[in-house]
Amino acid sequence: MSEDQKQLEQALAALQDGKLIGLPTETVYGLAAPIDQPELIEKIFHVKERPFFDPLIVHVADVSQAKQLAREWPDVAEALAKTFWPGPLTLVLPKAESVSDLITSGLPTVGLRAPAHDLAREFLQRAGVAFAAPSANKFSKTSPTSANDVGSAFSEEDVFVLDGGACEVGIESTIVEINKDKVRILRPGMISKSQLQAVVESRGYALNVFEGDNVVAPGQMKEHYRPDVPLYAVTDASDLPKGQTVHWIELPDDAVLAARVLYKSFREASASGKDVCALHVDSSWLKNESWEAVLNRIRKAAAHFAPLKL
Ligand code: TXA
Ligand code: MG
Repeated sequence: MSEDQKQLEQALAALQDGKLIGLPTETVYGLAAPIDQPELIEKIFHVKERPFFDPLIVHVADVSQAKQLAREWPDVAEALAKTFWPGPLTLVLPKAESVSDLITSGLPTVGLRAPAHDLAREFLQRAGVAFAAPSANKFSKTSPTSANDVGSAFSEEDVFVLDGGACEVGIESTIVEINKDKVRILRPGMISKSQLQAVVESRGYALNVFEGDNVVAPGQMKEHYRPDVPLYAVTDASDLPKGQTVHWIELPDDAVLAARVLYKSFREASASGKDVCALHVDSSWLKNESWEAVLNRIRKAAAHFAPLKL
């Protein structure tokens, strides 16, 4: 049996023992439970220390499984899923009755996503059921991009981690809500607004962007993804507080590569033992759509985001 087959067997057995699964995806690792096991869904909130008002994304193997969980599946949902699944896009749609309120926090809608990761896809197929999963970090902390990140946040008694290597995308999926004829982005991700626009507008819909802070409630909590030391996002060192030791984060000057290493760089900052960490934001990033999602995560993780004041 290959290493992956062995891991899959172990994961399926761990579920029988009441454990959650650390699920590798192309974005970040998820903390997963089958949607038809309420006690395991509750366990997600418990071990993650996540408030019940923050709903979970349901991970599916394919479009046909997704359709069973949505009350409506308009042509624009079909077009988006066809174009971007499996991949880093979550679709929020009116939920089917069978989806429990525990997963959706009582909302009438459900977030659905087919992840593009071979091990995750095979796991979902073999389990034969969809899995609810938030990112596998403690609430408000940095999301995990390796099996080791998950293993160090949760005990082996609670979570079996499928090791699918380092996450390729590195930050969470783009979330798009489809409600009747209204389509809007709830959370930016590496699938950009213009990529979505091309598909949505070709079906005769307009694409809007949700602005505001009232928790609808996508990754919208203001403080999120935080390293354990205060993060200063700066364009130059004069923006930093005086008399503090500083761990510098230099991201690659390419948004795709920056997303891939962002959370790893936050973890290194947390472990640095310095008073603060500083991330250099190049002012050209602020005008470039490809950086939008990375800047969104930096803004939420930062105690101070100097470039915004310029
Ligand atoms: O890439 C991802 O999306 C990762 C991987 C594991 O799939 N998952 C992830 O989950 O980022 P989480 O729970 O950390 O963030 C999901 C966000 C939450 O902030 C939640 O509020 C929002 O999705 N969400 C889930 N269901 C929703 C719904 N029905 N309406 C609005 N927002 C929803
Ligand atoms: Mg999260």
